[in-house]
Amino acid sequence: QVVLPDKEQFLMPSYACQRLTPLESHNNKFTEALSLLAENAELNNEEGRAVAFRRAAAVLKALPVMVTSATQLRGLPCLGEHSQRVIKDIIENGVSNEVESTMHSERFKALKLLTGIFGVGAKTADRWFKEGIQSLTQLVHSGHELNPAQQAGLEHYHDLNQPVTKAEAEAIGDIVRRVVLDVLPGSEMTLTGGFRRGKMTGHDVDFLITHPDEGKETGLISKVVSLLTAQGLLLYQKTTRNSYMENKGRLAQPSSTMDRFERCFCIFKLEIKEMRPDKDWRAVRVDLVVAPISQYAFAVLGWTGSKLFERELRRWASQVKSMSLSSHALFDIKQCKYLRTTSEEEIFSHLGLEFIPPTERNA
Ligand code: CTP
Ligand code: MN
Ligand code: MN
Ligand code: MN
Repeated sequence: QVVLPDKEQFLMPSYACQRLTPLESHNNKFTEALSLLAENAELNNEEGRAVAFRRAAAVLKALPVMVTSATQLRGLPCLGEHSQRVIKDIIENGVSNEVESTMHSERFKALKLLTGIFGVGAKTADRWFKEGIQSLTQLVHSGHELNPAQQAGLEHYHDLNQPVTKAEAEAIGDIVRRVVLDVLPGSEMTLTGGFRRGKMTGHDVDFLITHPDEGKETGLISKVVSLLTAQGLLLYQKTTRNSYMENKGRLAQPSSTMDRFERCFCIFKLEIKEMRPDKDWRAVRVDLVVAPISQYAFAVLGWTGSKLFERELRRWASQVKSMSLSSHALFDIKQCKYLRTTSEEEIFSHLGLEFIPPTERNA
């Protein structure tokens, strides 16, 4: 029996790294609803549920038209029963009651507020919420001892929850690049993260640094941080040394997003031009990461995101290609060898995937 495809149906491959996902979606009201349920699941430490909602949202982001009827969902991958119900509710009623009640629940509102503090994760926020802490004022008066990251996060709460513009990202880029080149002439620096995917705003600015002579980059970050600190440009910083060692078959686990590059997570003090009555600067979260040139292509790919796109790439590598992909390397498990590359294009090709440009990785 031959089943003819319904005219209304779409063909969609099931891994996000097999398809184009532009920044602008035709299905915002659905993807926002599913993303909120994903976020709620993350706040509840339900990783599996969160990923299921994220994958469903990503499928709708990639659709070339707006969904107007449930029949269009037939044959689409990654849409579980729960996600389909949410989508149908929105088609039929304009809203999903589950999303509405989640969004307005005391718990969700408090956890969002508390995890909005730099340095506060879901577990800490949950513990505080269970103690009755639902506002920043309550936190301050609770007498809880905050670590240095959280203290800085609380102090700059307002600024750090203001979107960072592309212009601000570029202004910081100019300052950091000058310092990097002072410390190590010939270095290269790339703006990665959401801005490389074409976003006009972000929650932070991500930079990746390398040098064409392998090994020259070692220790670069601490010198850069010292100079930036001496200029009074860092409101907070936490620097970590490189801890990566090639070790066959024992690469970072496919599920782990943490890499081992030399890095600095910091809060940057950016001077602003327009006159404000109170202050002439704002705080901006900045991630500085240093990669050796031999791992640079993997690092650029890994730091461009989106987070779901990265997760899907690693899942594809391991489930379909028996390979292990990280921000450092690609390891072929069957051949028991590393696959060297110097470009993102080659990595996609090693993975048997068509190249997806950064602006189409907004899964
Ligand atoms: N990343 C990573 N290791 C970390 C933190 C982030 O590899 N410890 C990667 C993420 O997987 C993502 C990229 O760095 O691919 C950027 O992360 P992030 O700044 O959190 O998100 P963006 O996509 O840049 O979005 P935003 O605009 O909100 O910053
Ligand atoms: Mn970012
Ligand atoms: Mn983010
Ligand atoms: Mn970041």
